[in-house]
Amino acid sequence: METYSLILTEQRGRVGIITLNRPEALNALSDAMGQEILTAAKAYDADPGVGAIVITGSSRAFAAGADIKEMAAKSSVEMYQLDWFSVWDALAQVRTPMVAAVAGHALGGGCELAMIADFIIAADNAKFGQPEIKLGVIPGMGGSQRLTRAIGKAKAMEMMLTGRVMGAEEAERSGLVARVVPVDALLEDAIATAAIIASMSKPVTMTAKAAINAAFETPLAEGVKLERHLIFSCFAMEDQKEGMAAFMEKRPAEFKHR
Ligand code: CAA
Repeated sequence: METYSLILTEQRGRVGIITLNRPEALNALSDAMGQEILTAAKAYDADPGVGAIVITGSSRAFAAGADIKEMAAKSSVEMYQLDWFSVWDALAQVRTPMVAAVAGHALGGGCELAMIADFIIAADNAKFGQPEIKLGVIPGMGGSQRLTRAIGKAKAMEMMLTGRVMGAEEAERSGLVARVVPVDALLEDAIATAAIIASMSKPVTMTAKAAINAAFETPLAEGVKLERHLIFSCFAMEDQKEGMAAFMEKRPAEFKHR
């Protein structure tokens, strides 16, 4: 069992929870914290007993960005040599569905981490932004790409060029978040949502996630072709036989791989 100092982990049923736990820095994402998040997420990914992951912070801050104090003195060459931020690319490769439960500040790397998750449930006090421009830099954890795909060019440009922060209601209207809930209900809501995902067949939820993610990487015809291969592969799984049999027998499915 790994021990962590910057995150907390807890399993509730088939839901693995990762809580960012660096309150004195509003959960600023240091390199060490990124490594802990990746280690925990990979462990959940490899565990057949975990069908979905929730990543969350505190009610004050999901994360206020990459750790500015850690980065400030770095040279460009060091950033290249250390392949800074690459830990987040590895996190995006985790196949288990991941829900971000976001309250408070989700700024810079915090907004980017939330977007690396598969979808975001936001508390009504959530604030999203890419204020890196005010620090003389741009996002480095995928924000320029994922924010643009999520909310379109006009809003992404405005936010990234001015550093404007977006509230939860606008984030929902813009398609950045799936749903907004009262801050006190956030974690339970996210866990309940993740539990629904975790009650499905894990290889099939992994397949669904892969299919949707392919939509951002491929032309339409190629994506549809990939989807066709993926659904055909589902028919090789016992869980497809069980799911369809359960429907016909008018009973809940008992998926084997959950
Ligand atoms: N890195 C390091 N420390 C941070 C931090 C960050 N991103 N954000 C907050 N902190 C620290 C503060 O320095 C402070 O610590 P000290 O008391 O030791 O100075 C502590 O957290 C509490 O912060 P504040 O006192 O500033 O709290 P506040 O309520 O007055 O303001 C805030 C909250 C508006 C979020 C403000 O902290 C802030 O603007 N933070 C920086 C936001 C930002 O620019 N994020 C982008 C970072 S760059 C990035 O993420 C690059 C990338 O693409 C990966």
